[in-house]
Amino acid sequence: MKYNEKQVDCFTRFKNECSYYKLMDAALQNAVGNIIKNKTVLDIGCGEGHLTRLLKQWGAAEITGVDLSKPMLDLAKEREKTERLGITYLETSVQDMGKIGEFDIITSGLLLTNAADVPDLKVMVKNIAANCKHGTRYFGQEHCGILNRYNNTLLGKYNFEVEILSSCKEYLDLILTGHFSQGEMSFRNLVFEREFLNSVFKDFGFEKIHWHPLQLPEGHKEGDEFTVYENIRNEAINELMDCTYSG
Ligand SMILES: C[S@@+](CC[C@H](N)C(=O)[O-])C[C@H]1O[C@@H](n2cnc3c(N)ncnc32)[C@H](O)[C@@H]1O
Repeated sequence: MKYNEKQVDCFTRFKNECSYYKLMDAALQNAVGNIIKNKTVLDIGCGEGHLTRLLKQWGAAEITGVDLSKPMLDLAKEREKTERLGITYLETSVQDMGKIGEFDIITSGLLLTNAADVPDLKVMVKNIAANCKHGTRYFGQEHCGILNRYNNTLLGKYNFEVEILSSCKEYLDLILTGHFSQGEMSFRNLVFEREFLNSVFKDFGFEKIHWHPLQLPEGHKEGDEFTVYENIRNEAINELMDCTYSG
């Protein structure tokens, strides 16, 4: 999905309001918190720089954000002007990115689900691998690939609904719609089955693949905005993929 200005505006408002995203950030912070200090980081599909900025604040030495959407990057660069963190932003798709460096850590937030099909997914993963060295860790906030979680009974609790357009053994092709106070935001996604996604990463040189469940932010108290997510370990449609490049 290549966001235009209207969609960027809607996504930014939606993301700010939807506490579900904070569970993904808490899972990432928990996973990288102890290892990110002084590391070089590449954040792919960085959007308006939300994760990119967090990763820098959590201790990354140098960080590059890459995205194919100019309006998203304009917003990221605007933020960089008003609150400079020294982040480099680059406009490219992951498919066209090629090798731009050898990073200690590569991250992405809801990137692979934008693949058009299986061959496109493989080009994405190939280019992630091209920017790794032996030992690079990849952390992806991905669709969890547990396909039976994609149903309206589960998702309705969190103000999301799903329309499945088609399915095959590797993925579900679907539209996810999130409702929020100012309207709704729809995403057309391919949700790759977890074992299939793992196998694609293995084929491109990654090992030690595991998935971290989403986490409630520290300090969450009964009755606050996160209470609705108390069963999120068994229900989330996103988790954090964690693997190591051994090529
Ligand atoms: C759901 S947004 C998430 C943005 C950001 N990672 C975050 O967590 O706030 C997905 C982002 O991926 C970008 N994107 C989608 N397909 C891409 C591709 N093939 N290459 C690079 N960026 C892509 C979109 O432009 C968008 O900014």
